[in-house]
Amino acid sequence: MIKDQLAGKKILLGVTGCIAAYKSCLIVREFIKRGAEVKIVLTPSATEFITPLTLATLSHNEVIVSTFPPSQKDGTNLSTWHIDYALWADLMLVAPATINTIAKISYGFADNALTTLVTALRSPLVIAPAADVDMYNNPINMENLNKLEKLGHYIIYPESGELASGLSGEGRLADTNKIIDAVELILSGYSKDLVGKKILVSAGPTYEDIDPVRFIGNRSSGKMGYAIAKVAYLRGADVTLISGPSSQSIYPEIKLIKVRSASEMERAVKKEIDKSHLLVMSAAVSDFRPIKAASNKIKKETGKMDLKLDLNPDILSSIKTKNTKVIGFALETQNELSNAKKKLKEKHLDLIVLNSPGKESGFEVDTNKVTIIKQDGKSVNLPLLSKFQVANKILTEAKSIL
Ligand code: CTP
Repeated sequence: MIKDQLAGKKILLGVTGCIAAYKSCLIVREFIKRGAEVKIVLTPSATEFITPLTLATLSHNEVIVSTFPPSQKDGTNLSTWHIDYALWADLMLVAPATINTIAKISYGFADNALTTLVTALRSPLVIAPAADVDMYNNPINMENLNKLEKLGHYIIYPESGELASGLSGEGRLADTNKIIDAVELILSGYSKDLVGKKILVSAGPTYEDIDPVRFIGNRSSGKMGYAIAKVAYLRGADVTLISGPSSQSIYPEIKLIKVRSASEMERAVKKEIDKSHLLVMSAAVSDFRPIKAASNKIKKETGKMDLKLDLNPDILSSIKTKNTKVIGFALETQNELSNAKKKLKEKHLDLIVLNSPGKESGFEVDTNKVTIIKQDGKSVNLPLLSKFQVANKILTEAKSIL
């Protein structure tokens, strides 16, 4: 078991007045479930959409709505609450953030409890805007968001889709999971440091058909590769994910190319690689495939199945690239370090990630234990971490060679 990155973290949540305010309940629930402490501040118009009682119950803390809360007026309690809250916090998230609150923050207004608290913050500020499409795309809002991003605040851009008004377009509050991932990223000390980089990631297994219903595959779930793609996106990169069959979900902003077999994956990698600064080949490509897939289901009356296999193309060995850096993975169960170093050389890689499968690492689980080996033979031996954190470590090493 590893410690959750959110456990014990002190998070301020600011909620503003828009229909997406109801989603703040889900965000609080997730923070609390993962062991964070949460204190909440609402703008007056947020109370039109959600009650302080709901959020106080979920967060186990008093919710502040007025710059002069009742508990302050009653006596000495919370006398300088905005300063106390600001000093207490490891991070403040404003979700959803209306264009009105975004504008006020960008101009340094302190005209309600939320904006007053923001002006006193010492910790990172994360802003997740939500608005109807034309309000969101309003040039003044764009300018304000740009300004806030340039000031070093982290913006979780909204998604495109159907909006509460019935219109469709940009403005829908980012998915709760993405918001939580972004908060974890910032609390782990990372930022949008991969802006301008195009990163291609392969993930999952490949399936090699025996007949229309059977295939040869492996136990890869895709979790490691999907975590790399997500983290690369959250750190600002333009990400394409080539995925074998997997039940994992990915952010809508990441271009997803679904493939099935090793040959399909090879074609997709070759098509995309020259557009990319970095390829992270975390897919567990099947080494073998049936010589010919039967066109009809093989009936069991045949008694036994004689399966003849051919070697699949080795994608990493077959790609020729001058400008793209390449990271490979090595899954080893014996002579781990020397086998991984051999693959690093033979496959002309810039880095290799040695993956040692175990109960808490490798296939299907959310944690992994890896060693990152560089071209000069030096290695970074990481402890057991969540795949999200492993992805961050791999991308930090990658950044040093990009
Ligand atoms: N790989 C590839 N094409 C293949 C097989 C593997 O590009 N046909 C890539 C994997 O995505 C990984 C790296 O090669 O990044 C090493 O994969 P691994 O399975 O550890 O090693 P193999 O080269 O397949 O060798 P072996 O199975 O014999 O250890």
